Amino acid sequence: MQTNQALQARRIDAVAGGVASVLPVFAERARNAEIWDVEGKRYIDFAGGIAVVNTGHNHPRVIAAVRAQLDKFSHTCFQVTPYAPYVELAEKLNALVPGPSAKKTIFLSTGAEAVENAVKIARAHTGRPAIISFCGGFHGRTMMGMALTGKVAPYKAGFGPFPADVFHAAFPSPTLGVSVEQALASLERLFRADVDPARVAAIIIEPVQGEGGFYIAPPEFLQALRKLCDDHGMVLIIDEIQTGFARTGRMFAIEHAGIEADIMTLAKSMAGGFPISAVTGKAAIMEAARPGGLGGTYGGSPLGCAAALAVLEVIEAEGLIARADEIGGIITGYLKIMAGDNALECIGEIRALGAMVALELIKNRDPAEADPELARALVQEAAKAGLILLSCGVRGNVIRFLAPLTISTALLEEGMEIIHGCLKRLTA
Ligand SMILES: Cc1ncc(COP(=O)(O)O)c(C=O)c1O
Repeated sequence: MQTNQALQARRIDAVAGGVASVLPVFAERARNAEIWDVEGKRYIDFAGGIAVVNTGHNHPRVIAAVRAQLDKFSHTCFQVTPYAPYVELAEKLNALVPGPSAKKTIFLSTGAEAVENAVKIARAHTGRPAIISFCGGFHGRTMMGMALTGKVAPYKAGFGPFPADVFHAAFPSPTLGVSVEQALASLERLFRADVDPARVAAIIIEPVQGEGGFYIAPPEFLQALRKLCDDHGMVLIIDEIQTGFARTGRMFAIEHAGIEADIMTLAKSMAGGFPISAVTGKAAIMEAARPGGLGGTYGGSPLGCAAALAVLEVIEAEGLIARADEIGGIITGYLKIMAGDNALECIGEIRALGAMVALELIKNRDPAEADPELARALVQEAAKAGLILLSCGVRGNVIRFLAPLTISTALLEEGMEIIHGCLKRLTA
């Protein structure tokens, strides 16, 4: 039998250290919200492969769709010999992405690639160079992805120079002491001090910051961005790579703000674990790039398209949008009980948009005193007890909940009990 320890030793010798893993635990198989490691130990999965398996690991319907496609062909390259699932999926997303405008879509392979292409399209459409993103935001690990990302360590340090003409504004977060007014003022400051709005092609924002700490952009801020973009002829790019596909209790998080994006980037839970991403946007904007300007050898792979079509059916058939709200309610219910536990002074703010729930870990009940050490320790301690957890946040002190939306209530409760027990032990 393989052991985690032996594999970890081989991994250290064979794999570049720049790709870090949360746990020295090697997966053998996974099903719905559970993962078994190579030693047969079972884990409840609250990480979902970082927001990728809203429909659970190996959902039978998704696997059947991929198998059926595999029997036909696995690759032709859409730019050489196109295939129907690509077109069908584009039609589905064009109909699902919110807003009255006609939409068009292209497919890529990763989230970062979707972001790169969204920027290319926005520049082609406007003929302008500059892009504004937000402090604490995360948009991927390619050069433009890193430039847009608003967190230096570990994502940008040592990797520059980055593409020019990228500017960061403040993201509104009462927890971090930034109001909507202050965030809007920071944009006005950018326009006065750094970049003429007439040179700005796009503003890109996550409706809920993912890596940044599950900070939720208030609807009025997103509405103000919509107006700002309209006033200045800028493209509003909404990055729904982590928030999309039912996670927040809507198909897309932007629905909470009731606005239409010019361009939306999609990936992760779109295909239940198969690598595919999308850029969906207003047809007039999406047509700005010339034939041959967009694409990629593997972009919109037939297996990814088949998986994504099945994922959309599962979200609908299993009522996962409504289930996200239930799951969020169960998790926050448990966290509130923990907050009321007098022994636990470490429970800070609890934030939730549907099942996108965050817990701030703090010292001495003081929100200003972030406790990233406790977050790190909790992730390791929970794994020992059979639960996979993820931390995040600009201060490193946030536990984020990304369990599959197909998880049973019993398993969810078991996971929450593990967290409660671990926090008691770690803070005793
Ligand atoms: C909001 C957001 N954008 C972009 C990305 C990059 O996606 P990928 O890792 O697939 O390149 C991520 C990944 O975490 C993300 O959360």
